[in-house]
Amino acid sequence: MTKPKEYQDIDFETRIVGFVCNWDAYSGVEMAGVNRKEYPTNVKLVKVMCLGRLHLGLILKAFELGADGVILLGCPPEDCHYESGTAMAKELFTQTKKVLNLLGIDQNRLALVEVPLGRGDLLAKQVSTFVRRVGRIGSSPLQSSVEAARLA
Ligand code: FES
Repeated sequence: MTKPKEYQDIDFETRIVGFVCNWDAYSGVEMAGVNRKEYPTNVKLVKVMCLGRLHLGLILKAFELGADGVILLGCPPEDCHYESGTAMAKELFTQTKKVLNLLGIDQNRLALVEVPLGRGDLLAKQVSTFVRRVGRIGSSPLQSSVEAARLA
């Protein structure tokens, strides 16, 4: 199978974890499917009730387990079903980028996207853009340690 044209400059299969809130963002996932808005299949989505439920350890665990990038998909702030979840996610995003920097991991491997209700087109576009961005950065520097741990 040949790669789509927009991915031909990327020479490896990126592994992306997407934490997606159950409400507006997940409606975007569903609408992307309904309207056949394609995005790369190497994005593994993990549904959470609200991005406000995430914490630093979960995101770092995704990287530790081999993710090349992590994307957080949540509601716009005014639509968060738990009021402050998006604001909490923004704080977490900022905090996590600092920690990634300390660990020598490119901060651009992490993204936060607000997905309004039913916007499958936007979700597919943002996820595709993120996958391309991570693909151009290259595989995670943690990949070699993950492989070493598997072989030990
Ligand atoms: Fe979607 Fe809070 S319910 S981010």
